[in-house]
Parts: sequence; C-alpha cells; structure tokens
Amino acid sequence: MNTSVANPRNATHALRCVKCGASQKDPGPLFRCVECSELLEVVYPEWSRSPREFASRLKEIWKERRGSTLAENASGVWRFRELLPQMERSHIVTMAEGNTPLLPLEILRHDQSLRGLSRLLAKHQGMNPTGSFKDTGISVAISQARAEGFRTVCCASTGNTSASMAAYAARAAMKSIVLLPSGHVTSGKLAQALEYGAHVLELRADFDGCLKVLYEVARQSGAYVLNSVNPYRVEGQKTVAFELMEQLDWQVPDHVIVPGGNLGNGSALGKGFLELHELGLIAAVPKLSIIQAAGANPLVRTMRENGGRELIRVNPETKATAIRIGNPASWRKAVSILNNTGGTCEDVSEEEIAVAKAELGAEGVGCEPASAATLAGLKKLARSGFVEAGETVILVLTGHMLKDVDYILQAQQPKASIPLDADASAVIKRLEQIDASH
Ligand code: F0G
Repeated sequence: MNTSVANPRNATHALRCVKCGASQKDPGPLFRCVECSELLEVVYPEWSRSPREFASRLKEIWKERRGSTLAENASGVWRFRELLPQMERSHIVTMAEGNTPLLPLEILRHDQSLRGLSRLLAKHQGMNPTGSFKDTGISVAISQARAEGFRTVCCASTGNTSASMAAYAARAAMKSIVLLPSGHVTSGKLAQALEYGAHVLELRADFDGCLKVLYEVARQSGAYVLNSVNPYRVEGQKTVAFELMEQLDWQVPDHVIVPGGNLGNGSALGKGFLELHELGLIAAVPKLSIIQAAGANPLVRTMRENGGRELIRVNPETKATAIRIGNPASWRKAVSILNNTGGTCEDVSEEEIAVAKAELGAEGVGCEPASAATLAGLKKLARSGFVEAGETVILVLTGHMLKDVDYILQAQQPKASIPLDADASAVIKRLEQIDASH
C-alpha cells in the first residue's frame, strides 16, 4: 500500500496569474499578480508535460488508501495528494475532511420540471467536520501556512470560512483572526468561531467591506490570508470533484450545480474537473453552473450584461447570508469555468430558495439556505430547457442545516405545536387533528 506523503510522483507546483499568465515567485500576502494584480492559481508543470503517463495508476492508488487508517489517507482531501501541492506529513492539518455522502433525491419523481431527469443526486458538503465545504480548502491552505512558518491566520467571512479556519487553526495551535459583517452572520456560525478560540471582530460593513479591511490588516500584521483568494484554498476545494467522480465510478454526470458567493467554490470544482479531464481520468467535463440569490447576483448580471468582460457589483441583500456578496473576488475565475465547462449562471428569488430548502428538508436532507439555491436554480434551468431530459445532475449542498436554525424556525414555526398538558389522550387528540389537516 502506498502511504508516503512525499510521494516521488507528487508534482511540484507553481503559481500563475489567471489573467496575464505570469508565473509568480513571491505571491505576497494578498496572492495577487505582481504584473496585473489579478488572482493566482496553482499549476503543476511536471504533470502537465506528460499528463496521461503521470495519471496512469492514480485511481488505483486512491482506492487503496481508502482502507488505510493513516490521517492523510483518511482525509478526503489528502488522499488525492498527487494532484495537490507537495506537503510534508508534519505540516498537514487534517480532520478527515471530505468523505461526504452522495445522496439520491426523490424530488425528481414528483416535481413537474424535474421529472425528465435521469438521476438527481446531492453531494452533501455540509457533512464536513465544521459543517461546510470550507474544510477541504482550509485543510490545504492552513497546511501551506504552516509549511511556510506562519503562526497567525485570518479571514473575512459570512460565517463558514471563519468557523472552519478557527477550528483548523486551533488544531494547528495557530492564532486566528476573523472579520465578520455585523448582524449578518448566523448565531451558529458565530458560536463556532468563538468556541474554537478565534479573535472574532464584527465590523459595520458587509462581507465585501470586511474583505477590503482584511487585506489591509494582513498587509500590516503579516497574518496569512485564508479567504479563497488564496490559491491553496482552491486546491483543497477542487478535491470534491475527485471524490464525486470516485463515488460515480468515474461516470461523468451531465451537470454539476453549485451556489455562488465569492465564487471560489465554483472555480475550484471546475478546476478539479478540468484537471481530471486533462489527465485522462474522465472522458468529458460536466457542465458546471452557478446559482446566486437574486438580491446578490453580480455574476449573473455580469454574464448577462457584458458577457463576463467586466464585473458588475451589486449591493447584496438576501436571507441566504452565506452568499450575501456583491463584489466577488473570484469572478474572473468563475467566468472562465462557465466558459470552459459550458455551464451557465442563474439567479433565484428568496421564495424559490425557501421552497427548495423545505423540499430538501422534507426528504431528510437538511442544508442551509445558500445550498438550497442549487435546487431552486436547477428547477429554473430545467424549465428553460438548459438542463435537458435524460440528464444526470449533481447538486452541491455546501452547508449543514444547523448552521442557520433561525431561518428554519421563522419558516416552520407555525407548524410547531402549542405546549400540551403531559397527558397521553391530549397527545393522541392533537395527532388526530394534525393527520386530519394533511
Ligand atoms: N454556500 C455556503 C454555505 C457558503 O458558506 C458559501 C460561502 C457559499 C455557498 C459560496 O461559496 O463564496 O466560494 O462562492 N461562504 C463564504 C464564507 C463567503 O465566508 O463562509 P463561494
């Protein structure tokens, strides 16, 4: 069994600008191109020279590791380490992230717009250690921080990045600093960051305002930025594409749908699929589509109004607080993923998100509002004909239902019962009333 982390097949990596292609020796604290200030991405010159040869045994190696108890093999991220930046074992910070379920959804049988689909499955990233997809990316980026000798990490967040960063920083005995938009982070997410010991600062700003301040704080303090502008975050998050393909026995779905906020995740997944294709590990690339809330839809407007050439910022407003973002940092990466995979972007109303979320909940698949935007978006795309009959579609559910219980209680409270006397006959009577009302 292959268990070594410093695998000789593991490629060394480089950082390259996504816009002008310039390779970067020192990315600086904000991971921006020294030539044109755009975002950077990780590339692997060694394996891209002879991709097929490099990839020939990977599926086998990854499968073997699933039976291993070593921490780096038990991780649904580091198990795929040949396609990640090389990392010494002692630097890896992991909590067995990834390893999330792929669940068939029944809604395809009774929703008019979805009936023609061949298969509909949810990849539930809310089943990660801190309850969101962020753990996969944070595991890689914080390991990189550790390898580079940083002792303090920081992020701006709508709540999930901060929860994840705080937990992984605690595991690595690092200090963590969190900037949050005051009043717009759910209590569950805030509680996580506090419990894990982060320095939590709430600002009178939205997420975009927090990110701007964070850049300045990082410049002045030397803390390591863990937002998805950090290209190592993207490397961790792309592994969901690898795990998904394994779960599908390498049969490529037609369509993968993710919610979009700062647009790191859609970009990461797309990168994962494109790399698998380049390596000859999958026969085609699925269409990757991104769904935003109608009140926070800068990507949708950008694609509609100028074909993705120039970002149109918006003043974000949505109850799906995770994606309440108007000036997404990774918009250019996302545009390129939509173009390279043939996917699209769409926006959905608050009402459509609420309905989709309740429908998922009703089949036992809880998630947070931002995640439910995927189902709402799929219905819209199926009605418009962009998603066609016979297709296999994967929804990426990004966060756990318990991240935002206030949202649920507001929507479902009318169903909760008024307290009864502790008396069996009163309970039976109430149950009969409920049955009769259904
Ligand atoms: N879904 C959830 C549950 C999220 O927390 C986020 C982003 C997204 C979707 C959108 O992903 O930003 O990569 O496009 N949350 C970030 C945070 C912004 O700070 O937790 P994205």
